[in-house]
Amino acid sequence: MPSTSGYLQIDSLTKRYKEGTAPAVDSVSLSVDEGEFLALLGPSGCGKTTTLRMIAGLIDPTAGTVKVAGKDITHAPVYKRSVGMVFQSYALFPHLDVKSNVAYGLQMRRVPKAEITTKVLEALELVRLGHLADRRITALSGGQQQRVALARAIVINPQLFLMDEPLSNLDAKLRDVMRNEIRGIQQRMGITSVFVTHDQGEALTMADKIAVMSEGTLEQFGTPSDIYERPATRFVAEFVGQANLVEGATFVRAGSASMIELPGAGRLAVPRVSGTQLNGATAMIRPHQLQVRSVARDGDIPARIRSSVYLGDTIQYEVEAGKNILKVQMFADGAPALAVGSEAAVGASTDCVHFIAA
Ligand SMILES: Nc1ncnc2c1ncn2[C@@H]1O[C@H](COP(=O)(O)OP(=O)(O)O)[C@@H](O)[C@H]1O
Ligand SMILES: [Mg+2]
Repeated sequence: MPSTSGYLQIDSLTKRYKEGTAPAVDSVSLSVDEGEFLALLGPSGCGKTTTLRMIAGLIDPTAGTVKVAGKDITHAPVYKRSVGMVFQSYALFPHLDVKSNVAYGLQMRRVPKAEITTKVLEALELVRLGHLADRRITALSGGQQQRVALARAIVINPQLFLMDEPLSNLDAKLRDVMRNEIRGIQQRMGITSVFVTHDQGEALTMADKIAVMSEGTLEQFGTPSDIYERPATRFVAEFVGQANLVEGATFVRAGSASMIELPGAGRLAVPRVSGTQLNGATAMIRPHQLQVRSVARDGDIPARIRSSVYLGDTIQYEVEAGKNILKVQMFADGAPALAVGSEAAVGASTDCVHFIAA
């Protein structure tokens, strides 16, 4: 589906590194509005970096187009594009100090010296590194180097801010801090951004739009809630969060009640369903949308506890319901966990069950 509007438009973008081999990126189309934050999400090798580098002009596409603000830049050289890029490895100049690293892009663009000094300091303040302007790169921590790389990318006030797994070399705590900082800077500057990650949590928390990729193709493009609540494919359902996928499920309406018939397990009452094909499709139920209890309520299905794992705030159960093995995530409320092997009941909570078309 070609996109007809949007600030960044990618149409049928394709990269084949070697003739006769499968394309690394296969006819990807999407478009995002000005100021939006797009996450390219998928497992290693699915074509995220290749896509980002085609947008940056570092890789020449085999087919398809890239447009920014209505202008076709598909084959424009990097230096003619207005993009700021942050690489996974940071790619800083180790022999230069912090301010010279940040100044680089402005010098290349022949910006007057006085203006460079002001802009570099502004960018360094934005990433909270104003006090380290004269430090050598080699005397910085990983997190500080990351901030220099961010400052260097945004100092030119680019049309596009492109980041390739920029947080993957940081420890978990710093990663959380930098997530918020990047998102904050991006929103304050209103800068259209593309962020590559294999971390679904990162994509869900940071992005306005997510493009989920697998083996070079676009599996789904949408908002974080589209992706999480209404996955288009089994791949998306399983890659983004945990999912129970029950094949051959059927939607049944009995009076005002909605139920889904789970093969061999009976009819489970559900508050809502979504999806276009409701019969014989795959029902996706997130573990937190299910509950186990020792005494069955109306609309529950019988189940047997297979395992339980206590995680502090939650208890994760695996239960057998007919031929299905379901994952159930319950808030730990202080009550003892249901015993492994015991008979129990499973019910669905207030969220909806989503049907993925076969
Ligand atoms: N320069 C290259 N030459 C040949 N194949 C490449 C090259 N770069 C990447 N690939 C292949 O293209 C596919 C996508 O790679 P990449 O875009 O780096 O994926 P990701 O960033 O999602 O991990 C992989 O199969 C990878 O091996
Ligand atoms: Mg990559």
